Amino acid sequence: MGTLLITNIGELTTFADDVGDAMIVSDRVLWIGKASSAPAADEVLDAGGGAVLPGFVDSHSHIVFAGDRAAEFAARMAGEPYTGGGIRTTVAATREASDSALAANASRLMREAMSQGTTTLEIKSGYGLSVVDEARSLRIASTLTPETTFLGAHIVPDDLVRVVGTTHSNRTNTQPLVQDRREYVDLVCGEMLRECAPHAKWIDVFCEKGAFDVDEARVILTAGVKAGLMPRIHANQLTYSGAVQLAVELDCASADHCTFLTDADVSALASSSTVATLLPGCEFSTRAPYPDARRLIDAGVGVALATDCNPGSSFTSSMPFCIAVAVREMRLTPREAIEAATLGGAKALRRNDIGHLGSGAQADLIILDAPSALHLAYRPGVPLVKHVLHKGVRVR
Ligand code: NIG
Ligand code: FE
Repeated sequence: MGTLLITNIGELTTFADDVGDAMIVSDRVLWIGKASSAPAADEVLDAGGGAVLPGFVDSHSHIVFAGDRAAEFAARMAGEPYTGGGIRTTVAATREASDSALAANASRLMREAMSQGTTTLEIKSGYGLSVVDEARSLRIASTLTPETTFLGAHIVPDDLVRVVGTTHSNRTNTQPLVQDRREYVDLVCGEMLRECAPHAKWIDVFCEKGAFDVDEARVILTAGVKAGLMPRIHANQLTYSGAVQLAVELDCASADHCTFLTDADVSALASSSTVATLLPGCEFSTRAPYPDARRLIDAGVGVALATDCNPGSSFTSSMPFCIAVAVREMRLTPREAIEAATLGGAKALRRNDIGHLGSGAQADLIILDAPSALHLAYRPGVPLVKHVLHKGVRVR
């Protein structure tokens, strides 16, 4: 691959020691320094005085789904509470959808995210909830990202049937398989995990009232780890559930949501390598209280920001939106929010090759139509992302 010299950088944020106003990349960052001493490169890109920063690492999304829940959103804005029950609506629509319709929707959302600066996107299953439908969700996700997550334990599906068949057109779903939630947990830990593990890197559980309790989540995550997956968890979104403590107990890479945290939760996180991944789009779209990120940062907890892009609780693919809301509502400084959306996301995925622009990092970066990365929070809602490079290739 050829080399690209990026010049005329207004402000360069690397989250590494390297400083300068110019850089040379191939698929990796090769050189950073003063433009006046830049070595020769094959091509030149003029940043026009715009800020350069690492591409966003969105470590939490559910973009393999079909259907629309705008009416549910409108009802919430008129006073209805969010309970997670709408997940069932999306499961029904997702099972009905053809492979190609599901894949097309997911890749449209992936492109939408990339055009707003996301260069790494984690994608979960969780709207199939049968062996076949979870496996196909993960097959689709793995065509879009290496960061795929098996979330068969999203909720216990209503029908508790086994869907058999390998493609959408030859399946039947009339064979009863499980009678109760304990059998569903067994299915998730057994046949479903076996079919899904080859397409997944991570395992996740929605550990919450109305979904799975702490003991069930422990069983499921432990089975996933045994199958070679790494654990992460939906924790304390709606209640003080004990899920954060479980995340620390199991050394989950991340505890996601963290909307409700006790002091004991905060100190458990602070003494662990589990990142607290905050999802401001979710509190925004469910009218929940925002967690206090300042409390986490001051206690020494690693914090990430992600979109939680899904049709129910947070239908945004925009990391700049999440940064702006986190600054305004979660008491992060703009710098902290930008770090949480890049380096923080990388830590939540246990990656050290992304989320920063130190020498040797993957050349995932954003050029803004603004002189400083602070403008991401200062100018909310304005499309400031001018260019996006993924592994050194222009994707916008
Ligand atoms: O992260 N909390 C569980 N899962 C998703 C929402 C799912 C839905 O409402 O469709 C979340 O918010
Ligand atoms: Fe989620």
